[in-house]
Amino acid sequence: MPEQRTAPQAGPGPAAPGPARAGGLEIAATGRAVPGRVITNDDMARVVDTSDEWIASRTGIRQRYFCAEGQSAFTLARDAAAQALARAGLSPADIGLCLCASFTADNATPSLACQVHGALGLGEECPAFDVNAACTGFLTALGTARCMLAASALAAPWALVIGAECISRVLDMADRSTCVLFGDGAGAAVVRLSAAHPYWSCLGARGDGALLHAGGTASADRFLHMQGQAVFRFAADIIPRTVARLLAEAGLTLADIDCVVCHQANGRIIDHAAKKLGARPGQFYKNMDRYANTSAASIPIALDELARGGRLAPGARVLCVGFGAGLTWGGALLTL
Ligand code: ACO
Repeated sequence: MPEQRTAPQAGPGPAAPGPARAGGLEIAATGRAVPGRVITNDDMARVVDTSDEWIASRTGIRQRYFCAEGQSAFTLARDAAAQALARAGLSPADIGLCLCASFTADNATPSLACQVHGALGLGEECPAFDVNAACTGFLTALGTARCMLAASALAAPWALVIGAECISRVLDMADRSTCVLFGDGAGAAVVRLSAAHPYWSCLGARGDGALLHAGGTASADRFLHMQGQAVFRFAADIIPRTVARLLAEAGLTLADIDCVVCHQANGRIIDHAAKKLGARPGQFYKNMDRYANTSAASIPIALDELARGGRLAPGARVLCVGFGAGLTWGGALLTL
């Protein structure tokens, strides 16, 4: 079990309106990958004392994907990244940076990003590394990519940003309070700097407690644990704050946003935030019914679903919010 458990406190208040942070970010294409093994709530009820009714009514989750033999965070990351690259019509030589967000990488090293780098044949001048910010990982990697694209002399203008998880490997299948909540998957995006695609972002962290924990080198416990109600309260608080902060910085209102993509942990958290912010019906995207909580993969999977479903026309504004273990949180307001 985690050694340290402290209750989360209030997050940051909305920032005062201000100028857009320098430079925009274009998402040229996205991709997603899930393993082939579909696990329904009824399947989970055969393993632990739970039911489809309990899981669906408390979380909105109906099924999740678990990796089978031969599948891992790496194979999912590779497949999602290859898809995004192909859809963008780019070759490995166009990629100047490869980042992967995950807390369930196959190895401590080589990183998932380096494994993908090798599998896709990216260039030797393309740096590759992993980012671990739990469920805020994809937005943290996206922010890191934008900073590096703006500040570094990268060999090529495009960054490959991936969120990939194999959470099934760190689930305690005897703990019904966590094992029903998570799934495996990966999502990826190919991005570059672009003044034509305004972008605002914010990231935050408060390392004051182990809300969630999958064993590292200091612990023999390899399972994930969570204080569900404390995380629920933290998430219900941080989502509206993050949305308000980004809207204020961009000088926009929620009515100007085509779609809000929150980390897909729990439908009730998202409904609570949508109601608090006065969102229109369907404005907050939800897909946890099919994937459950895929941590760093949940936002890029949702972006890919929206893109494939034709819901993201050029110029559409998408506001993403991530939150999770660490504690970490973050947001990104994207213009497509
Ligand atoms: N099936 C049936 N009963 C269950 C299950 C289950 N799978 N899990 C817990 N219960 C029981 C409990 O034992 C408890 O029983 P008791 O009253 O007899 O003691 C009862 O249900 C209520 O348990 P709670 O924990 O109070 O249930 P709650 O309504 O809070 O829902 C949940 C739990 C779904 C985990 C909720 O707290 C939640 O969604 N929290 C946020 C989780 C989250 O956002 N995580 C993401 C951030 S971290 C990350 O993603 C990396």
